[in-house]
Amino acid sequence: MGVTLITGASSGIGRSLARSLARRGETIVAVARRKELLDTLADEIKADGGRALALRCDVTLPAQVRDACAAALQAFGSIDRLIANAGGGERTSVDEFRASTVADMLTLNVIGAANCIEAVLPAMLARGHGHIVLMSSLAASRGLPGAAGYSAAKAALTSMGEGLRADLHGRGITGAAYG
Ligand SMILES: NC(=O)c1ccc[n+]([C@@H]2O[C@H](COP(=O)([O-])OP(=O)(O)OC[C@H]3O[C@@H](n4cnc5c(N)ncnc54)[C@H](OP(=O)(O)O)[C@@H]3O)[C@@H](O)[C@H]2O)c1
Repeated sequence: MGVTLITGASSGIGRSLARSLARRGETIVAVARRKELLDTLADEIKADGGRALALRCDVTLPAQVRDACAAALQAFGSIDRLIANAGGGERTSVDEFRASTVADMLTLNVIGAANCIEAVLPAMLARGHGHIVLMSSLAASRGLPGAAGYSAAKAALTSMGEGLRADLHGRGITGAAYG
């Protein structure tokens, strides 16, 4: 097992994944904005005998992502797996359609993941080893009612993952977009 950096680990799917991977022996670097929730997660993992580090980080801010990855490397020496799970969205309404709402969803779901990839990929390429998981959604498969912006963002995320998977073929880095 190795070191997994998981974004959006303060709640929901990310938190459950972190607990589950920790129980299998993975070292967890838990990232999100709500540090108090990350701290309770890290405490739970450590109480179970695992290793965890909680780091406050907004994935839409590249400098914070770089700092979080640097802190993880300092603590554990490597990041073997990135699970870019932080994401979400709001409903888009035809009566109050706002480009800014769509932009916010693209920034969080796509650029947030890209910021994390940018931060971890050079070291993974240098070691010829790594695993990148992007948390997409079934909403990526087509534009869903009330979710025009969210579907667009998750479709972009899935496409980014597919392109990267092809580009990383033979470089020792595997991955997938799930949802
Ligand atoms: N639930 C579903 O049915 C479902 C289905 C398909 C896909 N998904 C996807 O699965 C992922 C997790 O969803 P969930 O249902 O578990 O939602 P959730 O409970 O709302 O979790 C979202 C996580 O993302 C974090 N986050 C949000 N904005 C962030 C930011 N700017 N920087 C860092 N972290 C941020 C939140 O933490 P903080 O607020 O503490 O930052 C939280 O930990 C999302 O990408 C979602 O689109 C969910």
